[in-house]
Amino acid sequence: MISVDELIDLAKSARHWAHAPYSNFSVGAALLSSDGRVFTGCNVENSTYGLSMCAERVAIFKAISEGATEIAKVVVVTDHENIAPPCGCCRQMIWEFASDKTEVVLANLSGDVRTYRIIELLPEAFDERYLEGVS
Ligand code: THU
Repeated sequence: MISVDELIDLAKSARHWAHAPYSNFSVGAALLSSDGRVFTGCNVENSTYGLSMCAERVAIFKAISEGATEIAKVVVVTDHENIAPPCGCCRQMIWEFASDKTEVVLANLSGDVRTYRIIELLPEAFDERYLEGVS
């Protein structure tokens, strides 16, 4: 099984591909799916701003579009002294494919690492349970 340190290295490498000329804030992600595969992502910005996509969601879309169904771990690397947390949209997207064991690992280039369960980052999440019985 791939280690967290290896996933951090993969997220750091993915971060180099970030297209972030507007924010100058490059983000890299490495997602381990529960079937043991790794998918990476970086943020991809656009001149219209609103179309920009976060690194986490790029990795999630790659994983789901290639048959993965569950996130075991998702590692996010930024270059910020306080370790930048995932945005709300990414938290909701992680929740969609998370289990009780899913870990969200946040790291920066200084070597700081913090690990969370998605429930800590997104308490009281909306999910498919609220759609049951709706016609
Ligand atoms: N960004 C991510 O890639 N992930 C996050 O969770 C937070 C923000 C990106 C989006 C944008 O390209 C840049 O960081 C600044 O917001």
